[in-house]
Amino acid sequence: MKRSVAIILSVLLLLACAVPVGAAVIPQNEWNVYFTENADVPKGVILQPGSDESERNLSWYMPEGTESCCVLLSENADMSGAETFDGRIAETPQGDLAAFVTLTGLAENNTYYYTCLTGEEQSEVWSFSTVGDSFTALYTTDIHISEEEDDPECYKNQALTFTNVLDQAIEKSGGLDLILSAGDQGSSGLRKEYTALVAAASVKGVPFATALGNHDRKGADFRYFTNLPNETRSALASYQCGDWWFVKGSVLFLVMDSNNADGAAHSAFIKKAIRQNPDAKWRVLMMHHDLWGQTMPKREDENKLLRLLWSPIIDENGIDLALLGHSHYWSVSNVVYNRETVQTVEKDAVIENAQGTVYLVSGSINRPRGATEFTYGPNIGVGVEDPSRVVYNIIDFTPDAVKVTAYDYETGETFNTLTLTKTGDAEKPAFSPLRAVGRWFTGLIGKIYAFFNNLDNYFDLRKKGFDISLGDVYKS
Ligand SMILES: [Fe+2]
Ligand SMILES: [Fe+2]
Repeated sequence: MKRSVAIILSVLLLLACAVPVGAAVIPQNEWNVYFTENADVPKGVILQPGSDESERNLSWYMPEGTESCCVLLSENADMSGAETFDGRIAETPQGDLAAFVTLTGLAENNTYYYTCLTGEEQSEVWSFSTVGDSFTALYTTDIHISEEEDDPECYKNQALTFTNVLDQAIEKSGGLDLILSAGDQGSSGLRKEYTALVAAASVKGVPFATALGNHDRKGADFRYFTNLPNETRSALASYQCGDWWFVKGSVLFLVMDSNNADGAAHSAFIKKAIRQNPDAKWRVLMMHHDLWGQTMPKREDENKLLRLLWSPIIDENGIDLALLGHSHYWSVSNVVYNRETVQTVEKDAVIENAQGTVYLVSGSINRPRGATEFTYGPNIGVGVEDPSRVVYNIIDFTPDAVKVTAYDYETGETFNTLTLTKTGDAEKPAFSPLRAVGRWFTGLIGKIYAFFNNLDNYFDLRKKGFDISLGDVYKS
């Protein structure tokens, strides 16, 4: 039965190319059958980036009592000559298990086939490809798969919407090498939300990089759902994850937990990652909170503090591009340095050797804003008039240029491009000693805030029934 459902889905995915843009790619009834009958759906196998292109990380949930986990990897579709990669097992607060596996020794520009073993039970065979110095990514945010008590089908239907957006992005881009998601993948941080997020067959072929959103922090499951390379959990890191980095092509990706206000730890983490990767030509930072949109007045008190904390960290470390979320309002900032616009960014801009950082915010997949009146802050270069439309972005990374193309999901049309180019000897502005003192001070205040904020999160998780200890929260 599993095989026939997989065949039906494969045919449907192939047919998707012929479906008019805007129509559902996978029919709801087929999705419901797949969801009910596919044994991998509750496990939530997620393919993720490894430390660099020679690695891939995987993780999934396993039933209580499972004694082993591993991934078989082969260069052949029939899995002949497969190599076995054994995994690590962790017990979750719900009493069952999570599997963590890292695949190593991968060659560039190659295709691999893999299957995950939960004890003796084997998954379908999926495949992924590695890249060289150029690649294409989907940048999305606030996917918001939601498990709602009064709407038991909600998470399943929202997962279908995300799958259809992903499949359109795969079609438009001619093939994705990476998914970048800037947080709020789930609405309550629950396992059902995450396993639904990665249910589709198409997601198993693209490494999925996820930042921790404030909604992901409402549950404990993000910690077990993900297997993050180079993850650094400082003493005051969130329970759910720390900061982590990976390299792909000529890009160093720094994935930060902006729920954690410990600026001193974030700063040290980024500096170390840059020292370890001196040849990465581009530095891309991804985190959840929107800094410059200023579209929601009620959030401005929090946003002012976030800008104080993050802008010196981002400026000091010469970040080229920041990928954010949280506001659900798509925007492209001007080139910003020291909290001010240093170069205006207009529609379809090409920016050479930016003397600061460009910040992108995408819209939400399942919770786009209503068409209420709003305005953007002074550092925003390009925005949308109607935030109720579902949008996504395809980013082409090459050593010389980063090109972001924004798409309207309903029409399948592009509505903006942004191109950043960089010549070999281009440098960012020098970071002043006075600002370094300011960064140190806000980092210290952030540490105190993070201590109490983690305590608050601990009591919240305990109240929701997650069996975690204070030691789990404060253990680095
Ligand atoms: Fe959100
Ligand atoms: Fe959020």
